[in-house]
Amino acid sequence: MGLKDNTVDMCFTIEVSKVTSIVGDNTMVEDDLNIPFEVKRIYHLYGVPTGEKRGGHAHYELEQYILAVSGSFDVIIDDGVNNRIITLNRSNLALHIVPGIWRELENFSSDAICLVIASHKYDEGDYIRDYKSYLELTKQ
Ligand code: TYD
Repeated sequence: MGLKDNTVDMCFTIEVSKVTSIVGDNTMVEDDLNIPFEVKRIYHLYGVPTGEKRGGHAHYELEQYILAVSGSFDVIIDDGVNNRIITLNRSNLALHIVPGIWRELENFSSDAICLVIASHKYDEGDYIRDYKSYLELTKQ
């Protein structure tokens, strides 16, 4: 499993649990219920200026859930052969990105907060940041 084997068809959106009430809503992501990996790190991405893009990399090992906990943005996932554009615009819609997939995030609304739940701690060595190198690696 990884760079050569994983494809965009293995990346799904799932609706995680949500409880609504007149005093506000709760959304839950829970181990053994709606997340398929052990969580090692959680971070959020926010304050992205209009028109800016984020991402632009792939990971060898890391997998993640991405949620738009506020606002909306598009995630482009690419396996070197096929790509898909997924719009995240509901706080309980999680996109699972498996290892070895190139991703770019764009079209951020001004109030967008991107929550990332990750399977590994931060490790720059796990990143592939050059698209040409990524394409070469997917062919090996
Ligand atoms: P990066 O993952 O490169 O970008 P993006 O958020 O667009 O996917 O992260 C941006 C910068 O933040 C980069 O210098 C690495 C740093 N960073 C950390 O130090 N720790 C982290 O957990 C993350 C996600 C990023």
